[in-house]
Amino acid sequence: MIRAIVFGVIFGLGVAGTAAAQDAKVKKGMQVFTDQKCSLCHSIGETGNKKGPLDEIGSTLSADVIRQWIVDSKGMTEKAGATRKPVMKEFKLAKDEVDGLVAYLQTLKKK
Ligand code: HEC
Repeated sequence: MIRAIVFGVIFGLGVAGTAAAQDAKVKKGMQVFTDQKCSLCHSIGETGNKKGPLDEIGSTLSADVIRQWIVDSKGMTEKAGATRKPVMKEFKLAKDEVDGLVAYLQTLKKK
């Protein structure tokens, strides 16, 4: 009985910790999105360049593909046969910045 309670509390804290870590990643991603001026070519909601809306990107692309765009935009432009100009520039971001962006963009889903 006591064991079950202790386990439950520890498990509960663990889950809350993960959710908080995820929140922190998403926040980091929003910051990087602003700092790197992604909105020069992409819009989210009413903000940014409407030629490249990312409002539903979390529904249309997997986390892996989103990551590929961020770390290898040139390769992905070729793979996707994207024709919009200017092409996405190459970003050199730290791993935690990329992780943040991926976490953030994944939250943008079809309503
Ligand atoms: C110089 C313009 C430019 C900038 C700056 C830019 N992108 Fe892009 N991005 C593009 C273009 C062009 C494409 C190709 C798809 C399209 O036409 O929208 C693209 C595609 C993408 C895609 C795939 C979209 C889809 O619908 O398949 C993602 C995700 C993305 N960019 C994220 C970002 C993020 C995150 C940043 C900032 C770190 C960023 N982009 C900065 C031009 C840009």
